[in-house]
Amino acid sequence: MLVCLFAFQSMAQAPELRTLPPLDPNNPLKELIGGEQFLAPTIRAMQDDAFDNPAAPTVELGEKLWSRADPPARSCASCHGDLRQSQMRRVFASYPKFDQASQKVITLGERVARCREQRSQGSPWSSYAPEMTAVTSYIASMSKGVPSSVDVSGPAAATFEKGKSLYYAKAGQLQLSCAQCHEDNYGQQYGAERLSQGHPQGFPAYRISENRMITLHDRFRLCNRLARAEQLAEGAPDYVALELYLNWRSKNLPFTAPGVRP
Ligand code: HEC
Ligand code: HEC
Repeated sequence: MLVCLFAFQSMAQAPELRTLPPLDPNNPLKELIGGEQFLAPTIRAMQDDAFDNPAAPTVELGEKLWSRADPPARSCASCHGDLRQSQMRRVFASYPKFDQASQKVITLGERVARCREQRSQGSPWSSYAPEMTAVTSYIASMSKGVPSSVDVSGPAAATFEKGKSLYYAKAGQLQLSCAQCHEDNYGQQYGAERLSQGHPQGFPAYRISENRMITLHDRFRLCNRLARAEQLAEGAPDYVALELYLNWRSKNLPFTAPGVRP
């Protein structure tokens, strides 16, 4: 059933891919390959060029919002200072993270939303508010070049295990798991695209076909749709668990967000 979904194109025919070894010997992948390596060269060039990257205006807006107070709300910078100089500079790489206050693993977006409401005391930013997209993209851009530092031990272990089992679970009308596409068949053509290893490094990303920034969870929904499986809401516990698992799987691959995708 699965085989007929993929066009036959061996890895050998493709341009040579740069690989990195995974940090954890338990990683099921023997080599890590960043998502951009599977993109058309024109799209990759767009991502690499600071001026051509269509996500650049979103990151710039995020930087402005970080230091702008919208009274009575306080600015993020009034407490956290200049993000570039701050200890928190690489904070994106450590998410999703176990949060003491809510006793669960949360995404960076959830953390920002809470600071916005409780610390800045501003009007809430929903998951899809342009301000939320901008600020999270800005924070993500500060982790460019460093790998994920997620902690999957201790109180995060159960969420990690859940993410792992979701990754291998067959789902949807087509009964496809994430692993079938991204572990067993990466490098193969799938429709107009080449299957990557499905790493989270380039997200949030600008999606050219939709003319907008998309989150990692937006990408999960697109993948769920390909498998004709149920699509969940932004921040749904299953997506947070998958995000944690994917970040662990990608350890050693540097972040490249904001990415550009077709
Ligand atoms: C009044 C001070 C204050 C303001 C304003 C504020 N924060 Fe925070 N923020 C904190 C404190 C204190 C913590 C750490 C303690 C905690 O967990 O609440 C924190 C934690 C964070 C964290 C998590 C850091 C980590 O190590 O995981 C992020 C991300 C964050 N803030 C982003 C923001 C953003 C974005 C804004 C602006 C929308 C903002 N904060 C506004 C005080 C503030
Ligand atoms: C039917 C095949 C298929 C399944 C099943 C599938 N995906 Fe994907 N996925 C794709 C395609 C096609 C793309 C776009 C090209 C690429 O990067 O692989 C993609 C892209 C991604 C990306 C973005 C990679 C990048 O760098 O742009 C992530 C992350 C991802 N998938 C995660 C998942 C997760 C998690 C699951 C399981 C819930 C899943 N996928 C299931 C086909 C699939």
